[in-house]
Amino acid sequence: MIGSIWDQWLVQVLRHVKDLRESMAQGKGPRVLVPTMGALHAGHLALIDKAREIAGNRGRVLVSIFVNPIQFDRKDDLDGYPRGEQVDLKACEAAGVDLVFVPDPSEMYAVDHSVTVVESSLSTVLCGASRPGHFEGVCTVVLKLFLLSSCDAAVFGEKDFQQLAVIRRMVRDLNVPVEIIAHPTLRESDGLAMSSRNSRLSVQQRADAACLYRALCKAAEMEDVAAMLNHVRNEIEASGLARIDYLELVDAETLRPAASLSGPSILAVAVFYGEVRLIDHVTIMVS
Ligand code: PAF
Repeated sequence: MIGSIWDQWLVQVLRHVKDLRESMAQGKGPRVLVPTMGALHAGHLALIDKAREIAGNRGRVLVSIFVNPIQFDRKDDLDGYPRGEQVDLKACEAAGVDLVFVPDPSEMYAVDHSVTVVESSLSTVLCGASRPGHFEGVCTVVLKLFLLSSCDAAVFGEKDFQQLAVIRRMVRDLNVPVEIIAHPTLRESDGLAMSSRNSRLSVQQRADAACLYRALCKAAEMEDVAAMLNHVRNEIEASGLARIDYLELVDAETLRPAASLSGPSILAVAVFYGEVRLIDHVTIMVS
């Protein structure tokens, strides 16, 4: 039997690449991957539910939990990223996940690893511009997870819309035989997008962060781009708690800045509350 702590868990816990490969080679039906960095919340559980729907009873749902060091541009962000393996494994078990892959960084990257995946267009703007190397790290780990798991499909949250666009581009351009499924963003009752990073906010920052989605929604009703951006900026800066990293209206397909609302667009924002960086967006369809 594969999985060093299988006895403790109803879900199969795999820590080694070799075990993952062997395990995924068995069985029939669709293999559906939910890649995560752990600190699982209701948003992740919704991705897992979606994965189960696609896998059906014959297929298998695999969750990967790996805080991927090469996608962090700041060491303090990597060090401070929330971790809680036991709680995450329990959540996976309760959600009916079949397998969880929890590798050590040394299992994923050789000390002298020197091959990465670079997407060179969509990755250069928004989060890619403010977090150099981030999407290179994401593409590299996601492709590795696809290869290691031989998954047929993988589920990603729409909150990270740029990540989703970059991964879709990677899959298209490298002919990766994995279906990419998007799942809508889950929100707290006050509108804040669910994120593992929310747990790092102070009580005051957490309360203030509800203004992000409120401001984006109000701006989405406006027709003038400058008025839109001003509204969101003023609302976010009002408390003095948040610092805007970027605030942009971009074309929904190219992710390039949109000067007017001439086609489907995305109003996207990234802010810092202290050291904690949050992102959110709304999609604006022109009628
Ligand atoms: O969205 C995330 O949690 C990560 O970027 C991912 C896709 C698991 C890759 O590390």
